[in-house]
Amino acid sequence: MVKPFYITTPIYYVNARPHLGHAYTTILADVACRFNAMKGSDTYFLTGTDEHGDKIIRAAQKQSLSPKEYVDQISELFRNLWPELNIDYSYFIRTTDKKHIAIVELVLKRIYDQGDIYFSEYEGKYCFGCERFYMDRELVDGKCPDHEIEPEVIKESNYFFKMSRYQDWLIDHIKANPDFIRPEHFKTEVLSFLRDPLDDLCISRPKTRLDWGITLPFDKNYVTYVWFDALLNYISALGYPENALFDKFWPHAQHIVAKDILKPHGIYWPIMLKAADIPIYRHLNVHGYWNVDQSKMSKSLGNVVDPLELKNIYGLDAFRYFLMREMSFGLDAGFSEAALVQRINSDLANDLGNLLSRVLTMVHKYFDGKVPEVEPEVEKELQLGLESQTQTAVSEYVQAMDHFAFQNAMKAVWVYVNQLNKYVDVTAPWELAKKKSTRKQLQVVLHNLLEGLGVISGLVYPVMPDAAATMQRHLNIEIESDLMGLKDIKSKKLIRSGAELPKSITLFPRIDLEKVKKAASENGGIDNPAVDLKPEITMEEFGKVDLRVATVIRAETIPRAKKLLKLEVDLGKKRTIVAGIAEKYKPEELIGKQIIIVANLKPAKLMGIVSNGMLLAAMEGKRCSLATLDRETTPGTPLS
Ligand code: MSP
Repeated sequence: MVKPFYITTPIYYVNARPHLGHAYTTILADVACRFNAMKGSDTYFLTGTDEHGDKIIRAAQKQSLSPKEYVDQISELFRNLWPELNIDYSYFIRTTDKKHIAIVELVLKRIYDQGDIYFSEYEGKYCFGCERFYMDRELVDGKCPDHEIEPEVIKESNYFFKMSRYQDWLIDHIKANPDFIRPEHFKTEVLSFLRDPLDDLCISRPKTRLDWGITLPFDKNYVTYVWFDALLNYISALGYPENALFDKFWPHAQHIVAKDILKPHGIYWPIMLKAADIPIYRHLNVHGYWNVDQSKMSKSLGNVVDPLELKNIYGLDAFRYFLMREMSFGLDAGFSEAALVQRINSDLANDLGNLLSRVLTMVHKYFDGKVPEVEPEVEKELQLGLESQTQTAVSEYVQAMDHFAFQNAMKAVWVYVNQLNKYVDVTAPWELAKKKSTRKQLQVVLHNLLEGLGVISGLVYPVMPDAAATMQRHLNIEIESDLMGLKDIKSKKLIRSGAELPKSITLFPRIDLEKVKKAASENGGIDNPAVDLKPEITMEEFGKVDLRVATVIRAETIPRAKKLLKLEVDLGKKRTIVAGIAEKYKPEELIGKQIIIVANLKPAKLMGIVSNGMLLAAMEGKRCSLATLDRETTPGTPLS
């Protein structure tokens, strides 16, 4: 039985719009989650927003909004961004959710009742940016190392959590579980921090100073400190304490954070769990920081990178690939568009895209677009080490993905991509095609290449789900479930002899950075050079296509055709069309929908049914959106 997989991102503060850093962590979690689903795990992927505290109040005030209005707006920006980046989270939590608040109260009360929270007067140096007190030794030249401003001296009575009581336990726990915090150097950092005595943690703020928070269940004059509230999201989202989701996923919990929040996750959080008698999470995975022009991203430097803009210019999968390939997990990395374009052109357009289009072109040229049979007599002689190269690539990839070393996983895949490119050069199929006597060799070579591309399509799926789906469509791969699992990848029979393959495509167009910059400055906006447009046509040519509005009257599945639906549509008169959308739409969802069809396409027979037209839809990898109209229109109306 494969273990369940539970992955979390930090819940992001809503005092700023989402940027590259947030996108990186969340894409990383998505990649890990998709990979584990490929392994056969049941997965749960949590993200969300952290909405209480000083920072948020100040940001709301700046915009003259009430805290609630403000957090609703920004939280929505995060929630709406993730699907745009193909991030398939299971649940989006907000710390202002009632369900979450109830759990924070419950845990606080439990820890208070058992005597681990006490009341005391405190004077200390407080950084409003970090929302915490600082010890003198933690300051750099008397300033907060993160915000580079002097903290303010504050004196107040507050509640404290006896973290010191659990210091020895935590040291033992980290030592007994060597991969609890990874990579290794972050574990070392936490252990070195734990060499000094731990201070107790101030976990309250008087309402006189801040009332945008969760009221302490044992003192209504105080709200809880943001971290005590925020960290508990990881269990409140699973319905702690009594919920099947919690029982199933919590024992396998893995968090992803960047190094900025190592201390709350590596120290406060395990101690909170221990004190509340809740099992400790399994792994804390810590990554480095993306810097832009060698500096931290910041509004004042004007170097904040917007992930949506990059997606729109360069394409989503290319952007996701770059992030995973460029940063070594645990180390900092520098972001630049030049580096992104370099990766797109060399790894994606050249190495992978060209390989796919070369192979598909040859299959069309030499075998009429049909996957050639394997000829057992010549199969061995044309192996040329390919089988062991495939095995090595898959096993190195799995090993790296399991350890969050996504950069190494992609490296392993690209070693394999280039081995396949070499295989093309060495076997020279265009030479084999010249003689009848080498026809069998040609069959085997192309079959092997298609199989190799099938393996690659599976391996790149977590990082580039759309490109993987496009590849699988072009290789006409059919697998039982919706997702190509690791088992399928290892099966050595992804490609079916005789299957018809669509014409070759440009998977990743080359990008000219100069043109991108020029377009951006000339248009004030940005063209998308990643869109590979077809050659121009005249109005007259376009006029030959008869596009009509049609209303769906009936829709039904077709026995033994997983992908097809039979639709009866009204376009002034009734018509039957067959559409390949059964995996995306249920028949009942389509009844009454107004769609657009090409009405004068030559009829075609599909699974024994004559289709009299074709509906229009946008295929984006595995996603499919039907072209519809924005108001009710008389069936049969032509589109022009
Ligand atoms: N709200 C807290 C987290 C609470 S979790 C219980 C918080 N929020 S945050 O909005 O500041 O997000 C910090 C996280 O955003 C980092 O840990 C990291 O995941 C991501 N990143 C923000 N900037 C980043 C970079 N420049 N580079 C990489 N990741 C970055 O802290």
